[in-house]
Amino acid sequence: MLLTDDAPLPLRTVDPAFRRDIIEGLSRDPKATPPIWFYDRRGSELFEAITDLPEYYPTRTETALLERHGPDFAAAVGRGRAVVEFGAGSARKTPHLLRAIDPAAYVPIDISGDFLHASSAELASLFPGLPVLPVVGDFNGDLTLPAAVSGLPRLGFFPGSTIGNMEPEAAVDLLRAMHRLLGDGAMLLIGMDRIKDRDRLIAAYDDAKGVTAAFNLNLVTRINRELEGDLPLDGFVHRAIWNDDKARIEMHLEAVRPLHFHVAGQCFRMAAGESIHTESSHKYGARDERLLLRAGGWEPVREWTDAEDLFSLILAQA
Ligand code: AVJ
Repeated sequence: MLLTDDAPLPLRTVDPAFRRDIIEGLSRDPKATPPIWFYDRRGSELFEAITDLPEYYPTRTETALLERHGPDFAAAVGRGRAVVEFGAGSARKTPHLLRAIDPAAYVPIDISGDFLHASSAELASLFPGLPVLPVVGDFNGDLTLPAAVSGLPRLGFFPGSTIGNMEPEAAVDLLRAMHRLLGDGAMLLIGMDRIKDRDRLIAAYDDAKGVTAAFNLNLVTRINRELEGDLPLDGFVHRAIWNDDKARIEMHLEAVRPLHFHVAGQCFRMAAGESIHTESSHKYGARDERLLLRAGGWEPVREWTDAEDLFSLILAQA
């Protein structure tokens, strides 16, 4: 990005996809916006803060699994693979995996070029001699791997339960796309969040300090700043609900009173109690995980979970 978040409005570059997604999402009934737009600079900072919260168990549980089972990964995956990480972001969990399996190359994929190049440089300095070949792009779209990894067997790495953001149909499409990209003989190491006690799930998405609320409400601030919005910040409250039928946590921005606001010149109304559905985070049972992977063209070969079965890491074969 050339310009900072603080640049005066006429100078700021507005992502046309952001405008399109928000206008389209607010025009829908019920209103729903894609979770990718949480992650401006402030949103990424707030997400990092979420991962340190006592209530937010996924990050620390998955990291512990990656630390603990290195020898298992090495035995199951072998050396000399090209590790392809989907949505690498800050890639904080990656060193544990790379250290364990001695790969031939590392290909982090992320839509945010800034973030990606910073974390790639950091990783390259941690692993001298390992080719780090970042790819800027949307892993939901069409991608090509760098020519340098064309002859190498691949290991896809998709941690963080990011797949949980997707509806099952989209998740299957993505798994199939990963299969096509990585090729026959590829393996995939994927993190999925387990179905568990409802109160524990809700607490993870509605923490006592209000960091998740701030993360959700930051979308309102971003819309106002980047899309000439006039949404009242005090007109919304954060809600996290467990949708048991769909086995997912939903985050909503709920209107506390009747609202009337504008975004990019368009007018919107909300009734008191009506909400914007901003994120779904699907949870999977042990069999659900395997069913999803198989539907996406991947055969599970091994699985690691913590003592409480909060989170699982699954290794699958194309
Ligand atoms: C990054 C999608 C895995 O769903 O747990 C955390 C995002 N949202 N708290 C998740 C998130 C609210 C997170 N993922």
